[in-house]
Amino acid sequence: MESQKDSHRIRVLLDEQTIAKRVHELAAQIDADFAGSEDLVAISVLKGSVFFFTDLVRRLQTPLRIDFFQTTSYGSGTTAGEVRIKRDIDLSIRGKDVILVEDIIDTGWTLRTILDLFRFRGARSVKLCALLDKHESREVEVPIDYSGFRIGKEFVVGYGLDFNERYRNLPYIGVVEMAEK
Ligand code: IMP
Ligand code: MG
Repeated sequence: MESQKDSHRIRVLLDEQTIAKRVHELAAQIDADFAGSEDLVAISVLKGSVFFFTDLVRRLQTPLRIDFFQTTSYGSGTTAGEVRIKRDIDLSIRGKDVILVEDIIDTGWTLRTILDLFRFRGARSVKLCALLDKHESREVEVPIDYSGFRIGKEFVVGYGLDFNERYRNLPYIGVVEMAEK
């Protein structure tokens, strides 16, 4: 099902200023919680979290190292046992405090899988920071330690989030309004 080129109307949901303000608040909260930590590793879940991640970590005062992790899932939606690792992290996280940075939590399967994996690898702690929480779509419980905004079930793009790999570079987050036939 090919989407029409450049034909989507995008309604702004969260503008640049609103996002920036919330990112600063989240960074302050994370700094307060990790004060004194020497072993923090911040991990971006690619590709959707890339802009959120770079904005967030540049605001943090806590010394940290960064790494990247990428998953894929088969089928149209994420389901149990269907999350595959596409790119693993380089760093060892054994004994380290880990903060996982994700764009959006939908069903929860992606983050549930990564959280379990990183705990299995011996991280001292694994915290989750998600810019968007589609709470009503949750199928499996994931504890979000730092949550940017709670949104409804609508499909959103921009600030890293895509629709068929498009719209990631929009500086704001918007709702894709599907054209009526
Ligand atoms: P989950 O495993 O269902 O929680 O899947 C989360 C992933 O689905 C996110 O990392 C996104 O890549 C993708 N996703 C879920 N909802 C949206 C959306 O509204 N816009 C863009 N991507 C989304
Ligand atoms: Mg993602």
